[in-house]
Amino acid sequence: MKLIASGATADVFLNNENRIIKLFKNQYSEKIVQKEANSQKIIYETGLPVPKIFGIKKIDGRYGIIMENIKGMSIGEKILKTNNYTDKLNIEEDVIKNWDTIMHYLSLTIDIQIKINAIKVQDYPLMKDRLVNRINLVRYITEKQKIILLKKLESIEFNNYLCHGDLHPFNIIETDEGIKVIDWADSTIGNREADVCRSYIIYEKNMPKISDKYLELYCKKASIDKENVLMYKPIIIAARLAENIPEKEKSELINDLQGYIKR
Ligand SMILES: Nc1ncnc2c1ncn2[C@@H]1O[C@H](COP(=O)(O)OP(=O)(O)O)[C@@H](O)[C@H]1O
Ligand SMILES: [Mg+2]
Repeated sequence: MKLIASGATADVFLNNENRIIKLFKNQYSEKIVQKEANSQKIIYETGLPVPKIFGIKKIDGRYGIIMENIKGMSIGEKILKTNNYTDKLNIEEDVIKNWDTIMHYLSLTIDIQIKINAIKVQDYPLMKDRLVNRINLVRYITEKQKIILLKKLESIEFNNYLCHGDLHPFNIIETDEGIKVIDWADSTIGNREADVCRSYIIYEKNMPKISDKYLELYCKKASIDKENVLMYKPIIIAARLAENIPEKEKSELINDLQGYIKR
């Protein structure tokens, strides 16, 4: 087996049969991994372009999901390449090269997100539950802030649109057969505005020069209101703080959150 990537929750390997194994860290039980594999199967069955799931396997005491190997380069890498691999596009706007190419890739990622967000699914993890769980886990906000956020969540009515939960250009791969979407661990059913808000925050912190273009274009293409996306910001930022994220992003997010709710 060849190691391809290491993340916070799992290591990703390519095995000798040309299949990907997403091997979860020790603390993830068979039940949790099976649940994720089931979710991914449901998504595959909707007809969306995602890796086919072959099952789960125990290796060295850890559980892994075996799936189709998606061959190609991620849209994220392609955007960086367009810009001569400048790290994170964290540069002045007039230095960004090839806006047309970048807009083409942004457009691709938005079109697939709109397609995902238009699918209604039953019997699937709920966005509201996921957000409540995450917010309850965060250590960097006060109890008072938590209560405010949870009350706000309680007041929101949730739909059952499929939401990827972490859709950004590095989770979209361009293959010979078109684009494919990977990394469905955070997928739920809920409100697409919240899914867009999550993506927007990822862009803001990692590709800030194109974040507003992303938000504008999604809203325009899907005929939704920017304000209805932005209203999720405090909730989505707080939920993100429950993840294992780089120190710089973490302190920026904590700071952003203070702008929305007092300590
Ligand atoms: N089905 C797959 N086919 C090919 N590469 C994959 C596949 N799943 C994951 N990868 C590779 O492993 C990396 C990490 O996997 P991912 O599911 O995105 O987890 P995370 O980003 O949460 O660590 C991806 O960026 C990609 O390079
Ligand atoms: Mg990923």
